[in-house]
Amino acid sequence: MLKQLSEIEQEINSFSITVEDELESFRLKYLSRNGLLPKLFEELKNVSKEEKPLVGKKLNEVKRLAEGIYNSRKAFLEESLSVKEDADYTLPGRTFSIGTSHIITQTLREMVKIFREIGFKVTQGPELEEEFYNFDALNTPEYHPARDMQDTFYVQNKYDKEKKYVLRTHTSPVQIRTMMANKPPLRIVSPGKVFRNETVTYKNYFMFHQIEGLYVDKHVSMRDLKSVLGYFFRKFYGADTRTRFIPSFFPFTEPSGQVDVSCFICGGKGCKTCKETGWLEIGGCGMVDPYVFKAVGIDPEEYSGYAFGIGVERIAMMKHGITDIRMLYQNDVRFLEQF
Ligand code: PHE
Repeated sequence: MLKQLSEIEQEINSFSITVEDELESFRLKYLSRNGLLPKLFEELKNVSKEEKPLVGKKLNEVKRLAEGIYNSRKAFLEESLSVKEDADYTLPGRTFSIGTSHIITQTLREMVKIFREIGFKVTQGPELEEEFYNFDALNTPEYHPARDMQDTFYVQNKYDKEKKYVLRTHTSPVQIRTMMANKPPLRIVSPGKVFRNETVTYKNYFMFHQIEGLYVDKHVSMRDLKSVLGYFFRKFYGADTRTRFIPSFFPFTEPSGQVDVSCFICGGKGCKTCKETGWLEIGGCGMVDPYVFKAVGIDPEEYSGYAFGIGVERIAMMKHGITDIRMLYQNDVRFLEQF
């Protein structure tokens, strides 16, 4: 009987009582007049005299346990099921908001997915960056006029006075980090935040996002760059999207280009979004400059490569008809929950 009792004890402890029916079957099974425990009390008279005190004690313990569980579950269920008399059941139910990811996060994911499908690996670099990676190794030494193109936030690090730090002004330092740490062939995209000390307006913000791309191998040419970006924008904006490359300048690419895509609002005919030009400027690109290869220890005679940087906010804003970049970062849920 002792064995039986400890089995019952275990059963009781693991009996699931989450609805009223279960509570009632619990009562019927263990506590009611024909239930297991009262029956065992009756059988107690057949237990030998020596064993009786022990068995009796255990039986009482198990009974108290069962009653305790019964009463507490009963109270709990009654409370959770109790209904207020004055409740109005015709009112609409409460809706739960589970939240969504930010429109920029969604755009980044969508962009990264397209590049991953064609073999690009995703890497990331620090937002607080050493000046060396953000500028010097990218063929932009101190006093190089191109530093003025990007209004830089310089950061003092009082623990490390040797190195100079900046909030990275572009994602291109990830190119340097990638090439220093790995041997070609390399094919990466690197999404992330960048910072520029610009006057905040409807089209400029002091922080925004870029996706950097880098491909280094033997015999990489401008043609590869054009075909990959063309493919990307057709995937992203639709099969009719055209891409064009306009000569431009970056210290770390030669030749350099500005990437434009045909306006997907008017299909290139000219409208307000593209300022009647039919084209939208979307990023910079070019062939990795031999000076950059030298700075990272890659032989420019053996390898060549292309790089590009695409602005993510512009892409998201154009795709969703958002006209003011500041709206993205005011964290107004009425705006954010639309995406
Ligand atoms: N880093 C450049 C910018 O932010 C864009 C770019 C990336 C240009 C890679 C060429 C190659 O303006």
